[in-house]
Amino acid sequence: MKRPLIIGNWKAHKDVSLVKLWVEDLAQKWPQGEVKAEIVLAPAAIHLAVLSQLLLAKNLPVKLCAQDVSIFPEGAYTGEVTASMLVGLVDYVLVGHSERRKYFNESEEILKKKVEETYRSGLKAIYCISEVGMSIPMGVEIIAYEPLFSIGSGKPDTPKNADFVAGEIKKKYPTPVLYGGSVKPEIAKDFIQMQNLDGLLVGGASLTASDFLAIIQNVA
Ligand code: PGA
Repeated sequence: MKRPLIIGNWKAHKDVSLVKLWVEDLAQKWPQGEVKAEIVLAPAAIHLAVLSQLLLAKNLPVKLCAQDVSIFPEGAYTGEVTASMLVGLVDYVLVGHSERRKYFNESEEILKKKVEETYRSGLKAIYCISEVGMSIPMGVEIIAYEPLFSIGSGKPDTPKNADFVAGEIKKKYPTPVLYGGSVKPEIAKDFIQMQNLDGLLVGGASLTASDFLAIIQNVA
């Protein structure tokens, strides 16, 4: 039985008080016994430190992921969050999310540098692609397949097609593959049951602790 990786991507949502409420809610509803998935949260960078302390205080087995990373190492780059700053806080870094490509014009050259910085710091890059033919830089450890039509639309891909795409990806890159795009508690298991899918990248449904927990419980 595989141990699925379930990542909640909060995108640019929540202030500090909402982050605290979310963790309290999660802690209250956390199930008895072992949770069979690896659970990861990707909040805005500004919340990583406080979230890590809150999770520790509540003894919740939840890891963290950065939503983005600088192309630069430590230095005179005002406003940047470097990979070395993330060490000790996160295990994973999202690179190439379609929203970063679309709204911040992140080119393949930029994404390659972000993967390099992530890899060099000993963190794992989760590289998002929306189609099977997209190029994937060296050093990527996990791939997330997120078709554009499914992100935030309420229209997920079919588990069968996502499985097919994941299989095609794995022929070239033998890495775990996640599916993302309008994942809700009711359909989470349909994806996880597919042979080539190793986890889920969850946006909207991770914003409430109860929905996120329902996904975790449904896939276990
Ligand atoms: P969604 O987002 O679950 O809200 O569709 C997924 C993602 O963008 O990672």
